[in-house]
Amino acid sequence: MSVVRLATLEDLPAMQEWHDWHHAKRESILARECHVALADAKPVGYGILNRSFFDRWWIALLFVPETHRRQGVGDALLAHMEQFSQANRIWTSTELPNVPMQSLLKKRGYVLTGVVENLQKNPELFYYKDLKPDADQQSRSC
Ligand SMILES: CC(C)(COP(=O)(O)OP(=O)(O)OC[C@H]1O[C@@H](n2cnc3c(N)ncnc32)[C@H](O)[C@@H]1OP(=O)(O)O)[C@@H](O)C(=O)NCCC(=O)NCCS
Repeated sequence: MSVVRLATLEDLPAMQEWHDWHHAKRESILARECHVALADAKPVGYGILNRSFFDRWWIALLFVPETHRRQGVGDALLAHMEQFSQANRIWTSTELPNVPMQSLLKKRGYVLTGVVENLQKNPELFYYKDLKPDADQQSRSC
């Protein structure tokens, strides 16, 4: 069972050992957007939660190092960020070939809502999850 909390700069050295593609961990931590999962008091995964997607609550990133996958860490991180957001509705996306992330999102009740092509090599799948029964979208456009 993982404990999940907001990451601090003390978590950074362990997180920087992971060979993931996110290079702005320090900035995310300082912005209180980075949530870290711990096992035996050591970081075993992290997620970034912010409002960078049309001012909606947005899970920008989720990462669990290979050594700790399929142990419920990703699930625990999502559960924590959903609760932390106190949002009515939360959003995220993943690339078409990313079956592990799609399976995890399906397990946690996320709804596939659209596909954007031409952003990058693979199509990007967008998901949302309603966290409250009255999660009607206040539509806002720009
Ligand atoms: C996607 C990712 C975060 C999943 O983390 P995880 O800690 O391994 O996931 P969990 O152990 O919590 O898995 C929960 C459920 O997700 C699904 N799942 C996770 N990995 C899966 C896989 N490789 N194949 C199929 N289903 C998978 C399963 O339903 C699983 O439940 P189960 O183990 O009871 O069958 C992890 O694989 C990862 O970091 N990948 C690289 C980064 C990435 O792609 N991030 C997402 C886009 S930002």
